[in-house]
Formats: sequence, structure tokens, C-alpha cells
Amino acid sequence: MPSRGARGTARAEVFPTADALMRAAAEAFVRCAAESIQVSARFAVALSGGSTPASLYALLATDAYARRVDWSRVHLFWGDERCVPPDDPASNYRFARERLLDHVPVPAANLHRIRGEDHPAAAAAVYERELRQAFATPDGPPRSAPGSRFDLVLLGMGDNGHTASLFPGTAAVHERERWAVAEQVAAEPRWRVTLTPVVINAAGEVVFLVSGREKAATLARVLDGLYQPHALPAQVVSPRSGRVRWLVDAVAAADLRRR
Ligand code: 6PG
Repeated sequence: MPSRGARGTARAEVFPTADALMRAAAEAFVRCAAESIQVSARFAVALSGGSTPASLYALLATDAYARRVDWSRVHLFWGDERCVPPDDPASNYRFARERLLDHVPVPAANLHRIRGEDHPAAAAAVYERELRQAFATPDGPPRSAPGSRFDLVLLGMGDNGHTASLFPGTAAVHERERWAVAEQVAAEPRWRVTLTPVVINAAGEVVFLVSGREKAATLARVLDGLYQPHALPAQVVSPRSGRVRWLVDAVAAADLRRR
């Protein structure tokens, strides 16, 4: 049941339950991994933070999915991080480690976490250098060729319309050059480091996971409403030569315009 978006391109794929949504997301991960490894001998993916992907990570760690991925060729990055040490309960790295990384054989050298324990600006600069090295683009804008970009970026959406750590009213939403920046957001207790639209929109595929009734009003504004990324940063995600998918459950889709 696709729904046409505010910018006429983003569509929502609506699933009856959160479980069905996560199975579709796991299938997307497995398919994208296989295709990317076939084309460029590796799969570069940015994991999402927040609570929504918890059951996706747990699903990917099950034998039914894990045995379908060549984890030795998977390179894991993060869309954003809270500026805390990696073993902190608020760490997106720890969140993914406990639910996925501890259960699948990704080589340690293929883990590219954001150093939340460092000074935020320094962590953002180090992360950008690591991205540029991984994508063989020492300077200038990201290239959109397989092997030089994210094959997959997983994103969530906050009920204020933020995604990754691109929050309403922040400069990061409008960043045009840097691939990663540090942000201090009034509404959040700590600094964040986030990928910017510059590198997200160079990705081969971006998949949003949106679940829960509390997201319905915002999802309708993001997909069916006016284009206003300053207020609804999730709208800024529009891959130049890739695709974006909005995988949502029925309760989150409750306010989407009927077709
Ligand atoms: C984070 C995330 C953030 C998240 C949304 C949705 O670090 O918090 O990257 O962008 O995806 O806030 O969070 P929930 O999934 O918990 O609703």
C-alpha cells in the first residue's frame, strides 16, 4: 500500500505489524548485502540508533538470517552516536553490539564506530576521515558509485521529525560539505555526532524504520505534508542516485493520506 510523499517520491510501505515490518527490513538487509558484495566485494552499512531497530538486530542475529550474510565482508558504521563511552547504556554502538555484533562474525577491523567517548568535534572529524578512507574519497563530495558510498543506511524517525541526529532547527540539516558533524541539541541531554545529508544522500539505499502510534502524526507531515526540512529533518533524506524506502507499521501509518 504505497503512499505518495510530499516531494512526490518517498513512499511508505505499510506492514500489518511491527514484526512483519522487521522481517521485511531483515530481508532488505540480506538482499542489499548479497548485491553489494557481488558488485564491490563488500557491504558498507550504517546502523541506526534509537529503540526501533532492536528487533531487527535481534532478527539478523538469528540463524535464519545470519547464515545468509557473508559477515566477513560487512563493514558496519553508525548513522549517529550519543557522546558517551561505548559501554554506556545510551551508546548506539553498545545497543547494536549486544543485539547483533556479539552474535555474528564481523571482523573487528570492519567495525567503524563513532568514538562517543572523545570530544564531540574531534570524534566527528575522526569519523569523517574514517569514512573518506573507507570510500576512497580523501576530499570533496562523496561519489555515488558502488564501493565508494554506503550501500545501505538504516534510519529511524523521532516524533519531532528528526533522523540520525539531524534535529529540527539545527545547522547539520543544511550541511553541504562535511560528512559528519557534532551537534548539541537543546532537547537532548548530551552532544551527538551524526552523518550529514551530504553522505546519506550519496547512499545506494536508505531504509527508514518507523513503528508505533506515537509516530503517526509526524510521519504524515513528513510524507504527505509541506517540504520543510528545517522543521522535519527526515525530509532532507533523498538519495541522489539511490533509493529511499519507508518501512512502517499500520499504526504508524494511521494518519497517512488514504489512496
Ligand atoms: C538515536 C537515533 C535517532 C532515532 C530516533 C527514533 O540515536 O536516537 O539515531 O535518530 O532513530 O530518535 O528513535 P526510536 O526508535 O527510539 O523511536
